[in-house]
Amino acid sequence: MRKKIVAGNWKMNRTLQEGHSLVAGILAGLPALSSHKQVVIAPTYVHLTQTAAQLAGHAHIHTAAQNCSNQESGAFTGEVSAGILKSAGIGYVIIGHSERREYFGETNALLAQKTDRVLAHGMEVIFCCGEPLAVRDADTQNANVETQIREGLFHLAAEAWSHIVLAYEPIWAIGTGRTASSQQAQDMHHHIRAVVRAQYGATVADNLTILYGGSCKPSNAAELFACPDVDGGLIGGASLKADEFLGIVAAM
Ligand code: 13P
Repeated sequence: MRKKIVAGNWKMNRTLQEGHSLVAGILAGLPALSSHKQVVIAPTYVHLTQTAAQLAGHAHIHTAAQNCSNQESGAFTGEVSAGILKSAGIGYVIIGHSERREYFGETNALLAQKTDRVLAHGMEVIFCCGEPLAVRDADTQNANVETQIREGLFHLAAEAWSHIVLAYEPIWAIGTGRTASSQQAQDMHHHIRAVVRAQYGATVADNLTILYGGSCKPSNAAELFACPDVDGGLIGGASLKADEFLGIVAAM
């Protein structure tokens, strides 16, 4: 049985104090979780040790980083390595968010290196993919997303895939209020699973958790999550308020 996950990506939001209150609010309303129904919270680097300490002792809710370096250690001012994240009690690292790709020039080749670093330190990867609006309008989104996955992840051995979660986030739906329809999400998730199946076989594909991200909110989460290939969500704006995030967790 593959895992369902609702993950909150805070992006560059919330002070340390606000983050503490937000996590406390989430913990106060959290339903029972299990190894097959997990929650992940990805605040900024500055929040990570605080959040990890707050979540310690709560099962099946994990702290994630939003990024990490492709380098192991050394003179890389401003960067944070996978090893440092691991030492802070971090369980997951988001890799390849479209904002990293777009604003920081991250390529599939770089993201492949980052993925390797995270896996080498025994953490889980949430690998993001998704097409821009022009690609969707040209109806070439399947090939576009396939290339991101192929170049970012297909160097991995089959065994590594038990530590990979994919997040499909159509760029035109991120922060725009324009959610992909449940049919659009299902079609892409089905395609992604088929691409992985063709490369790695049915076991890897069937066990792969694929999250949807892009204007997901309590009012549309249940319909999205009901799709057979949608295994939860990567939530931006709605993860910044405890009641909204909990509403989405409830839909899982
Ligand atoms: P929104 O939920 O704000 O659209 O953001 C989605 C996202 O980018 C999560 O990583």
